[in-house]
Amino acid sequence: MTERFITSTLNKKDPARETSLRPPKFADFPGQDRVKEQLELFVHAAKAREEALDHILLCGPPGLGKTTLAYIIANERGTNLKSSSGPAIEKPGDLAGLLTALEPGDVLFIDEIHRLNSTVEEYLYSAMEDFFIDIMIEQGAGARSVRLTVPHFTLIGATTRQGMISAPLRSRFGLNIRLDYYDAESLSRILKRSAGILDIDIDDDGARQIAGRCRGTPRIANNLLRRARDYAQVRADSVITGKVAEEALEMLQIDHDGLDEMDIRILETIIASFGGGPVGLKNIAVSIGEEEDSIEDVYEPFLIQKGYLVRTPKGRVATPKAWDKVGMKPLRGSDRQPELF
Ligand SMILES: Nc1ncnc2c1ncn2[C@@H]1O[C@H](COP(=O)(O)OP(=O)(O)OP(=O)(O)O)[C@@H](O)[C@H]1O
Ligand SMILES: [Mg+2]
Repeated sequence: MTERFITSTLNKKDPARETSLRPPKFADFPGQDRVKEQLELFVHAAKAREEALDHILLCGPPGLGKTTLAYIIANERGTNLKSSSGPAIEKPGDLAGLLTALEPGDVLFIDEIHRLNSTVEEYLYSAMEDFFIDIMIEQGAGARSVRLTVPHFTLIGATTRQGMISAPLRSRFGLNIRLDYYDAESLSRILKRSAGILDIDIDDDGARQIAGRCRGTPRIANNLLRRARDYAQVRADSVITGKVAEEALEMLQIDHDGLDEMDIRILETIIASFGGGPVGLKNIAVSIGEEEDSIEDVYEPFLIQKGYLVRTPKGRVATPKAWDKVGMKPLRGSDRQPELF
């Protein structure tokens, strides 16, 4: 089966490939200046006081650098990082195993923390706050609870769904960081850095082209860089110039605003099949044959940020900019949602 060059493929995690491109320090991490400044200060203050860092929650769409930042934080604080993820911690015993294996000051990174089950989440509360957990051992009449003390650790949680983090969990984080899409200048720097590591020849124009059409997302930028290299090798003399990048992006059906085939299908569906909305996520997902999660995590945030979609209590609604994008004129009068047009 041929791979479709849609954003959900271009933004798929590929740990083997990504590790080499992860900047190890804040200084090598372009973009997110406000976040970086806040985290750097936080790390240096804790370091000066020789204390463990307070717990940190990192939120934002996929591929923006949450995992990368978690590693940078641990690295700059000079501690170890142990990594797990919400769905992998199935039972309180799994959590106890992770926590008791930590050294004082270590970072426990829990990816997709919104997917922790509620029992495990409750155990996590006392660990985060008071550094102990009460675990039940045995069952039935012999059941008793044993208190395990946990070293002073730092929890770094990452999530693409801030809204799915319960209030009690959220309140136990000392720092709540939100990552946003990157500007083109930072993305150009990321692309040049990655090109250096991967030994890819790219000029300023080439980097600018990719930076402008990668949805403000470093993971997509890096993946487009690899695709453009393939194209340059076969069709040009291995150098990614502006023209080569443009041709490669054209071939991948990524338009000048960075929208791909799936974005366009989402907009067309809302407009052609549902009169511009409001329409629920489920209906969109069924109509285009894409998963709800992928629409909500990957496509929708970008379409909203770029002003193609709005979320209303009744569902998603296409904006005039979206109608324009798909080459149609918004309907008026009784067919439309009067409050929106
Ligand atoms: N500011 C940055 N500078 C350089 N590279 C970056 C930056 N941000 C992200 N990357 C690169 O993009 C890729 C994806 O980053 P990362 O895995 O940290 O994203 P994420 O937010 O954890 O995504 P997900 O939600 O899917 O887990 C990695 O290869 C990483 O090195
Ligand atoms: Mg991650």
